[in-house]
Amino acid sequence: MKLSYLLSFFLASLTVASPVANINAPDDVRLSVRTTTQDTAEYKAAIAAHGHLKKDKYYYFTLEWPLGAKVGDSDKETDAELRMLQQELGFAHVGVVVGQVTETESGKGKNKKLKRDFKATLYHMTKKNVHPGDTEFKSRNYSADAKHLRYRGETSKKKAEAAKNVGKEYVKDHAIYQINGNNCADFAGAVLKVLK
Ligand SMILES: *[C@@H]1O[C@H](CO)[C@@H](O)[C@H](O)[C@H]1NC(C)=O
Repeated sequence: MKLSYLLSFFLASLTVASPVANINAPDDVRLSVRTTTQDTAEYKAAIAAHGHLKKDKYYYFTLEWPLGAKVGDSDKETDAELRMLQQELGFAHVGVVVGQVTETESGKGKNKKLKRDFKATLYHMTKKNVHPGDTEFKSRNYSADAKHLRYRGETSKKKAEAAKNVGKEYVKDHAIYQINGNNCADFAGAVLKVLK
């Protein structure tokens, strides 16, 4: 290949990439400054479950553990129990995630940044010991992982705040774990009711 050919090819690509090519674009396009958007893993998980999240709004989801995924939080449900739940419910464990979508701007001009987050709490009920099987209320900041959120709806700040007490009260009133009648899904159902 001739050098002149290479050179003209190189110059052609320069022209295409040149900002001069945009000289006739309207001012607002030419001068627009792109804001860098930063989405947290929690925001990404929430928007993957529900494509229309609005700033400052509260949303709630369920979080399902497939069989084999570690429940964590010192849960003592036995493998047999988790298998039964998986068969009956389609998941081995379930919790409720509720929180607020936040958008925070920082910086100016071309350094402008927009951070989108889903600040949420995960509520779930675990089994504290194998026998007699005391139930335990668990509440912690939601942190995204491989498990998918399932969208349940929009809620209010008031209801989101009430969820914690409803969960606590449920566990107080349902002190002993039962695979039929007082399992993780029964707890989740009680919490979901207040968020509706
Ligand atoms: C939980 O989230 C709150 C509010 O976003 C934050 O202030 C707190 O430090 C978090 N706690 C932990 C243990 O990460």
